[in-house]
Amino acid sequence: MTAREARPEPADARPGASQGAAGAVAVDVGDLAIGGGALAILRPALDLVTEGGVVTVASVSPAFAEDVASWCRAERHVYLGAERLPDGRAVHRVARGPHGAAPAGGASGGGGAGLALRRPDGTFLAADVLAAVPFPAHADPATGFAPRGARVEPGGPPYPVDLLDRDRLAPPETARLYDQAVAAQWDATRDVPWDKVATLPVALERALGQVMTFLAENELSALWVPAKFLPRLHPAYAEVAMLLAVTLADEARHVDVFLKRARAGGGGLGVSHVTTSRSLLSLLQQEDFTEAMFLLSVLGEGTFLDLLRFVEVHAPDEATSVLVGKARADEARHVHFGLAHVRHALAHDPALYDRLEAAVRRRAATMGDAGVPASVQDALTVLAAHGDEPAAVRTGHAAFRELLEEMGHNRVRRLVAAGFTVTQARTLSDLHTPNFM
Ligand SMILES: [Fe+2]
Ligand SMILES: [Fe+2]
Repeated sequence: MTAREARPEPADARPGASQGAAGAVAVDVGDLAIGGGALAILRPALDLVTEGGVVTVASVSPAFAEDVASWCRAERHVYLGAERLPDGRAVHRVARGPHGAAPAGGASGGGGAGLALRRPDGTFLAADVLAAVPFPAHADPATGFAPRGARVEPGGPPYPVDLLDRDRLAPPETARLYDQAVAAQWDATRDVPWDKVATLPVALERALGQVMTFLAENELSALWVPAKFLPRLHPAYAEVAMLLAVTLADEARHVDVFLKRARAGGGGLGVSHVTTSRSLLSLLQQEDFTEAMFLLSVLGEGTFLDLLRFVEVHAPDEATSVLVGKARADEARHVHFGLAHVRHALAHDPALYDRLEAAVRRRAATMGDAGVPASVQDALTVLAAHGDEPAAVRTGHAAFRELLEEMGHNRVRRLVAAGFTVTQARTLSDLHTPNFM
């Protein structure tokens, strides 16, 4: 009999029922010796049973019979002896030893192994995988990059990761948001009608360049800030890292399209303000993942949703309105994940309210009495006025004041959705950076 014909066959032959089941598994190694390939059949069979589970091995090889007991001793399995079948084959019995690999990601980490997770319609979502192989409550740094659900040989080196707790970082919506994010990717070159960039009056072109400069500067921070937490995540929460990776691709695309739009009409870039620089540095210096997600995604990107809506509504041409609208749709997902993350963390740690408020207060203290960066105010006003004609600028100015009100109103609404009381939400909203992000 060949090795191919001698695949392990669980005694309990239900598909998927064999893994981890303490019970008999039968294999046939034919005439293979221990050193001649028999282990390629025997070892996987032993992986199918838990400690103490028995594998029966049919063999016609005298060499196998000679070596199997000593191999078992060396590998800490227990050789239980052999009996001879009427057809002349020997059937050896081996009980699995105690040193077997454990599932990565905790005791339930092996769940779903052997199940066919594909949907009947042919789709196969990360959310399906997460449902079958859930996040562990805590992750062990010694399982390293072992994929969740794999069996991990013990004794591996601890990895330098410190985000280890599900309830601090991995809301259950993570995989679903990842699936949505992947499906919503767009191309900064192909999917923006760059041929629809209009030739604008000088004042409007300069205002647009300033707005795009401001947007790109903030988008750069949205690329750098989550990136610094990615290597600290335990790989058992891979879907969080995968979602962050797609988010980083989104932010890269936003930087790309905003800078392209600033340059597409020949106006070029505007000013980068100290207020913006100070605000973004205070984001970059966050060391706590939840505090950073709160400041960046709930408060910052949340406020940016209103800003992007404003720029989209007042866009001077189709190219601008399309690219800003696409960026806004991406940002809505980032805000959604930020809210899910904060709600999830708050539900598991009531003391988090105070820490988040302290983080907002600390950040406000670094900003002093700064207001919205001057050129940004002016540029948004001129953008809404569609130029610098005084009567139109009066309307643009009113639109800008309305934008600030709208931002405050929606921030409070979002904070309440994240789990804060209305009073807490108002306090936090008022302390939020005048830089919007
Ligand atoms: Fe962005
Ligand atoms: Fe974002």
